[in-house]
Amino acid sequence: MPKANRGHQAVVVLDFGGQYAQLIARRVRDRKVYCEIKPYWTDPGELSGYKGIIFTGGPGSVYAPEAPLCRTELFDLGIPVLGICYGAQVMAQVLGGRVGPMEAPEFGKTPTQFSGESLLFDGVPESVVWMSHNDGITAVPQGFAPSAGSAHCPIAAMEDRQRKLYAVQFHPEVAHTDHGGKMLENFLYKICACAGDWEMGSFAWDTVERLRETIGDRRVLCGLSGGVDSSVAAMLVHKAVGKNLTCIFVDHGLLRKDEGDLVEQVFKKEFDMNIIRVNAGERFLSKLQGVTDPERKRKMIGEEFIRVFEAEAAKLGKVELLCQGTIYPDVVESGSGQAAVIKSHHNVGGLPEDVGFEGIVEPLRDLFKDEVRRVGTELGIPEALVWRQPFPGPGLAVRIIGEITPERVATLQEADAIFREEVARAGLERDIGQYFAVLTGTRSVGVMGDGRSYGETVALRAVNTTDFMTADWYQMPYDVLGRASNRIVNEVPGVTRVVYDVTSKPPATIEWE
Ligand code: XMP
Repeated sequence: MPKANRGHQAVVVLDFGGQYAQLIARRVRDRKVYCEIKPYWTDPGELSGYKGIIFTGGPGSVYAPEAPLCRTELFDLGIPVLGICYGAQVMAQVLGGRVGPMEAPEFGKTPTQFSGESLLFDGVPESVVWMSHNDGITAVPQGFAPSAGSAHCPIAAMEDRQRKLYAVQFHPEVAHTDHGGKMLENFLYKICACAGDWEMGSFAWDTVERLRETIGDRRVLCGLSGGVDSSVAAMLVHKAVGKNLTCIFVDHGLLRKDEGDLVEQVFKKEFDMNIIRVNAGERFLSKLQGVTDPERKRKMIGEEFIRVFEAEAAKLGKVELLCQGTIYPDVVESGSGQAAVIKSHHNVGGLPEDVGFEGIVEPLRDLFKDEVRRVGTELGIPEALVWRQPFPGPGLAVRIIGEITPERVATLQEADAIFREEVARAGLERDIGQYFAVLTGTRSVGVMGDGRSYGETVALRAVNTTDFMTADWYQMPYDVLGRASNRIVNEVPGVTRVVYDVTSKPPATIEWE
């Protein structure tokens, strides 16, 4: 049974290795139908509680040896299935149709015609779809009929109406398919008969209810970083068990200007949460004295963080549960094994899982980032925290090239605060994925009044990204850059030059270290 059903109907996306599994799930949830992602090899017996099944695309050929396929029993469950791209070919192959290389592979926007009889294409006129394939379905399995076609792909879709099995060669989940949203709606509402009543608001309060039941009178500990995920997770648990939740907020002295105070203010004063702020800035900075190697900085901060956290936790006596802000992309990524390596270096500031807890509480395990934000808003967490941009666990340490001193931290905090103010003043905060200042470690000559000065160079960085694996540098309006630069050199002592970083990722990373 779908675990997160909670009285709502769910659809499952079976991941055949395509890049769009999460996007498909998002599109389904946007239509108020709860959706989970599972690997393609999931036993059909585990799928019986779902209202619908969607196969993703995938990189290979279904007829290659060892190609990911599904079991035929899956099609006997009586559950509607929608196969997309490679997933469409899987359906054809497994049910006895034929799949082979196309004479003219199709990539990009492709005009396509749809059968007027198909429920999947109900209300969809002849229009453009997004194709991306070398192989295609060359013969449909028994019981199926073609239901869409393009110039080079006569079987751009097929269906077996009786068994509610549908397959599309193109990608309805991407925005380039003109009526993709309509097709998904047809599948969800007309074919799977989903009610479309899943809401984030009900998620928040259902979760509080469920947490109250599962936690009972046990105590919970949470490491609060001020980031969106840990804040929202802690808030859900707080609403469920109140003072039985204790949060430890380790302020390593490398946060942005005034950020530690904001976190304390919101959670302690406004929400009356049990929060312990550990002001460990001096301890971290003295450890970091003389350290310039980026990896060493990260490692030292990570280790020190755990030490401080554990020492603080030990003072609390027995606490049974640990609350963590794991979100759905973390779960899916570590499940498929793919992005695990990339993630691990980003988990600095995370906690070891085996520090003697009975269990882990992860109330956001089923949610995507923007859903977490919606829950946060629902719970009354202020915008500044809910919409906080990502911030690395080691904090400003990875934005200060060279040695970290209290003076240089203060310099960067000031410059960064000015940059953020100017972005906010221009109303661009939600337009930009991540933006910050960097102390580059390059000194340069300047003129101040009649004299010459020799000061720090600050780089401003702003990027847009969907997944933080790749990113484009943001085309910041010149006037915003101009105001930020002017103010930084005038208001921040020791800074004589400001530059803007115009490098995308790859080849550069988002952070400078
Ligand atoms: P990079 O610099 O690798 O960053 O392109 C990608 C995203 O990850 C964040 N980042 C980190 N987050 N600990 C974290 O928790 C880290 O050590 C770390 N390094 C980078 C970065 O801010 C960006 O959002």
